[in-house]
Amino acid sequence: MANILIVDDEQSFRQLLSLVFGNEGHNIRTAMNGRQALDLLAEEPSDVIISDVKMPDMDGIELLRAVRETQPEIGVVLMTAFASVDTAREAFKLGADDFITKPFDVEELKLIISKTLEKQALIDENRAFKRAQRDRGSVTNIVGSSPKMDAIFQMIETVAEVQSTVLITGESGTGKELVARAIHDLSPRAERPFISINCGAFTETLLESELFGYMKGSFTGATANRKGLFEAAHNGTIFLDEIGEMSPAMQVKLLRVLQERRVRPVGAHDEIAIDTRVIAATNRDLKAMSEEGTFREDLFYRISVIPINLPPLRERKSDIPELVEHFIKKFCDQTGRSVTIAPKSMDLLEQYAWHGNVRELEHTIERAVALERGEEIRPERLPDHITNYNPERIKSEFDLPDDGIDLATHLDNLERTYVMEALRKTSGNQTKAAELLKMPVRSLRHLLDKHDIRSISAQMRGSEQ
Ligand SMILES: Nc1ncnc2c1ncn2[C@@H]1O[C@H](COP(=O)(O)OP(=O)(O)OP(=O)(O)O)[C@@H](O)[C@H]1O
Ligand SMILES: [Mg+2]
Repeated sequence: MANILIVDDEQSFRQLLSLVFGNEGHNIRTAMNGRQALDLLAEEPSDVIISDVKMPDMDGIELLRAVRETQPEIGVVLMTAFASVDTAREAFKLGADDFITKPFDVEELKLIISKTLEKQALIDENRAFKRAQRDRGSVTNIVGSSPKMDAIFQMIETVAEVQSTVLITGESGTGKELVARAIHDLSPRAERPFISINCGAFTETLLESELFGYMKGSFTGATANRKGLFEAAHNGTIFLDEIGEMSPAMQVKLLRVLQERRVRPVGAHDEIAIDTRVIAATNRDLKAMSEEGTFREDLFYRISVIPINLPPLRERKSDIPELVEHFIKKFCDQTGRSVTIAPKSMDLLEQYAWHGNVRELEHTIERAVALERGEEIRPERLPDHITNYNPERIKSEFDLPDDGIDLATHLDNLERTYVMEALRKTSGNQTKAAELLKMPVRSLRHLLDKHDIRSISAQMRGSEQ
């Protein structure tokens, strides 16, 4: 329902219109002239003003002019008994939304008002959308406007405002850390620290002293008291990356911290109260792990108060062009170069399956920008597995197309796809990936080099390698 301001020097008219639009469920305020109307608007804005033109002490035209200067988003509909083409023309020129001559049919005015409100809703939506686009871009660095990413953005905005623990899941390279930062940056904690720690990169005892701190002398090498990251991120956010790698003993300790909101540094008697927001991430299936018994069920429920699942890039292919442009700009800015992308190359990038997700795309563009000496990134600058990628043929691997098939390339692609898939399934754990592929680790490493995916595998695993 809208806020409507009715301005007329005739009391009977004010009463009539209040009744008509009040019955429609709108909030009504009334004023006797332009000046009073402006005073009311200063207190609280309206959505629409219905104003008489001829009034003592600031007429409708002057009111319109004043409103357009300060609150251009308000709808203004003028009414007058002295219809003249000139007044009408002037009213429109000054930005009136509509104009009606007295006497009029109330139904006609209702129609005009509902049209004005509709138009405004559209403008509002558009404005909110633009603002959101701007914020997204500048505050979060997250690119993508597919419906799936839109839903993610909405989720980020919503959870930024609350304190709940968030669990971000998604395949490697889908942007989990980026989303965690965005939540922090859009939250009231933005000015306080955001501290990120990879739980998979530490032994159990090291992780405990990193997270909770320690007292001097509590173990060999503890030569001074040291604050833990939970305390360092007080009033801010701690990002527990790869939480699925946490040992059972650490899981118990973390659960306690989340329940009590207190940490006990290693070797300390007393606990310290902390107000640190926790965001966790994993590319493993924690629910399955908790059913299997490798991840505590109670901790799982505690951290997954709000789950955010980032879809793999291949499920939101419409984001690819935007991401490509974004990374080209990024690497051009970094290197002082200036290249664009050839349409044929863009086609290839759009159809590729991107098992390494946005990270793999980013690396591909970085490499292509570095290699391309011309003005446009040509297909030759893309890796063979992308230029030769043919989704149809991989799907129906036993169909021999009429025009034949380049078997060597096809097998090569198949091999690469299986290796990427094995790494994805095992979160980049090469030993486990080799087991899945029934080959020695050494052979797998050979394949990583052959297909130039060693760095992707390392990143899937985090900073440990
Ligand atoms: N939507 C996006 N817009 C722009 N850049 C993105 C987007 N998603 C991911 N990236 C970039 O891709 C890279 C990988 O993202 P990020 O590190 O957040 O992934 P991740 O999900 O944490 O991966 P992992 O599970 O391997 O740790 C980063 O350089 C990040 O900036
Ligand atoms: Mg990460």
